Amino acid sequence: MTESITTIELFKKARALDKGDVLKKLKPRFHYPKGLGAKSIYFCGNSLGLMPKGVQNALEQECKDWAKWGVEGHWKAQHPWIDYHKSFSQLLAPLCGAKPSEVVAMNSLTVNLHLALASFYRPTAKRFVILYEANAFSSDLYALESLITLRGLNPKKCLHAIQALDSKSIIQAIQDIGDKLALVCLGGVNYYSGELLDLKKITAAAHKTGALAGFDLAHAIGNVPLKLHAWNVDFAVWCTYKYLNSGPGAAGGLFIHERHGNDKTIPRMAGWWGHEEKERFGMKPGFKPMSGAEGWQLSNAPVFNLAAQRVALSIFKEAGVANVYSKGKSMGNYFIECLTTLGASDTKEKRTYSFSIITPLESERRGCQLSLRIHHKKGKSLFTLLEKAGIIGDWREPDVIRLTPVPLYNSYQEIFRVAEALCKHAYLVR
Ligand SMILES: Cc1ncc(COP(=O)(O)O)c(C=O)c1O
Repeated sequence: MTESITTIELFKKARALDKGDVLKKLKPRFHYPKGLGAKSIYFCGNSLGLMPKGVQNALEQECKDWAKWGVEGHWKAQHPWIDYHKSFSQLLAPLCGAKPSEVVAMNSLTVNLHLALASFYRPTAKRFVILYEANAFSSDLYALESLITLRGLNPKKCLHAIQALDSKSIIQAIQDIGDKLALVCLGGVNYYSGELLDLKKITAAAHKTGALAGFDLAHAIGNVPLKLHAWNVDFAVWCTYKYLNSGPGAAGGLFIHERHGNDKTIPRMAGWWGHEEKERFGMKPGFKPMSGAEGWQLSNAPVFNLAAQRVALSIFKEAGVANVYSKGKSMGNYFIECLTTLGASDTKEKRTYSFSIITPLESERRGCQLSLRIHHKKGKSLFTLLEKAGIIGDWREPDVIRLTPVPLYNSYQEIFRVAEALCKHAYLVR
């Protein structure tokens, strides 16, 4: 009896939160997948964000301009292609707490990581260690290993993996490595556990030892507030197909702090779009980098790819990034409340599975993703049961389900339904 009252109260709370939600008007701006049935719930924005409805028109507009103008579209298209990338710096800067000149939309996350590492990992005989996370996203590790090898060094000697991923342990490791440390390179929000690091303190600790700090923000941008400029972060890279809803394979982004962006002596992988723009078409030998992050560009902008991103980022502008972040935090809190209440172990003998929440419970140490470890030999079968109930999350081997309510298109009532569906089969262990 007590439990059902609590359940009803929880549901009422969801309804009240939805009622007061200033972002709810934005949900109809997205195509909401119904592949698993009319009642499908999409909790997978940590992997691929949803398609904004304006994307199709934006792509058609570029087609029309191409058909109408041919090469003249570089100057006469609705959004002229010649400096197409520039407006993205304005749109991305508030999302990462940067000056527009510190941000550029280009390439993909891994390519941008290679470009940043080429500039900012310049080992010496004394200072050569890169601190990274033991369970780093594979692509980051491949980039780190391959760059170290290209520098003629041994990845085994240069890479220091940290197992404990909390900010305190990371700062301790930075101090322990001391003056051998060249670079700290970590995910801002860990893709597996959803843990958010204290980028400000980690950057300060790295700088104190004389090292640099760069971050993979794939799971952070659009999810948690970032102040990359104020925190003095040296560089950061991200993709835009997750929380930024810019579509599969969408162009990534690069942040270069202005103290580096204005230093034209920094060696880099160069291409003509990074060359001083007034002289770009002079085609002369002798690369002269532009100031700011633009000086790391290689090629002219992928217009069709970025057309979708323009629509997606304009929704963030309309929503107000502060509203997005505060709803994300509140959704995470409500999700945890639902899981703790509905997952209470008092009827555990009736449930096949148990789970624990591996994402930190403190709201300042996470975004809106929750990662649940499933304690069962066939844990994936619980994920299949959720799919049968119309819930789209994702499964990460060996035993984790990631579920992410996203502020722009998910509701509190959906969180309630997801927690209810999960806790029907599983109870919470702490
Ligand atoms: C944390 C993280 N890093 C790197 C990548 C690789 O991104 P890309 O394929 O855009 O290079 C991903 C992709 O999902 C990711 O989640």
